[in-house]
Amino acid sequence: MKIINDIQSLRQQVKEWRLQDLKIAFVPTMGNLHDGHLALVKAAHRHADKVIVSIFINPMQFGLSEDIDNYPKTLEQDKNRLTDVNTDLLFIPTSDIIYPKGYTDNTFVEVPNISDLYCGKSRPGHFRGVATVVCKLFNLVQPDVACFGSKDYQQLQIIQTMVDDLSMPVEIIPVEIIREESGLAMSSRNGYLTSEQRDDAPILYQTLQWLSEQVKTNNDYLQLCQLATDKINQAGLTTDYIDFCHAYTLAPATTDDKELVILASAFCGKARLIDNIQVNL
Ligand code: PAJ
Repeated sequence: MKIINDIQSLRQQVKEWRLQDLKIAFVPTMGNLHDGHLALVKAAHRHADKVIVSIFINPMQFGLSEDIDNYPKTLEQDKNRLTDVNTDLLFIPTSDIIYPKGYTDNTFVEVPNISDLYCGKSRPGHFRGVATVVCKLFNLVQPDVACFGSKDYQQLQIIQTMVDDLSMPVEIIPVEIIREESGLAMSSRNGYLTSEQRDDAPILYQTLQWLSEQVKTNNDYLQLCQLATDKINQAGLTTDYIDFCHAYTLAPATTDDKELVILASAFCGKARLIDNIQVNL
């Protein structure tokens, strides 16, 4: 696996592959890689000849109260994992390379409406940071396809909307959620859980599964969400939100919608967990 830290070498390598008519897939990450990330790399290989992964802990998507300095860093382990799944190139830029003027003075990309809901409500400015860095990384890598996990369902829809709205020549490939045996969605944040909290955390997905069954015979979304919130809170978590949404616009679901997604977030100790389940009625 080739490791590149600067833009010029990245562009040079991409140019060489393009001259050979090779198809390029891209997987952006913030590192601390687990099997969920590796599933994206494996999916990327199925869609392209060369796979580029980036590791960049993007300051622009962290709120002032969020502790970016404590974001887990496991670079040596990440490199080994990426080598095991045959990554062709790992791009690890520094913040100076991505934001030479500092990110507060940077041009930004904001996908309206959808960015203000759910996680966007709890984390103002977060999705502006995500859309901006992904746009920038797309311009640097110029991939044919890019893989994103369905675990971050709202992020995935925001990136797809950005690509559609700005006619970016990239195909977005959604990759299904990889879970622990307990059902808990894999996440870098799971590292913040104590062993007791690890026992409590699977209630989030269990409740989503319960909701996806209930909604087949009950379309009172408000009532279902209230019952689900109670279930999650009784298990020792604190629900941030739980909502029935249209699967693509993420607007609050109406009773006419057939393709739904239930989005949920809950605090478990220090960790803010997110999860979702898609439902076709
Ligand atoms: P990060 O949290 O590192 O996630 C990188 C990618 O891995 C995202 O597309 C995410 O949805 C996917 N992923 C994480 N856990 C997963 C799981 N359990 N199953 C499947 N896919 C999973 O998301 C980001 O970084 C950043 O916001 C980024 C897009 C890199 C922009 O900075």
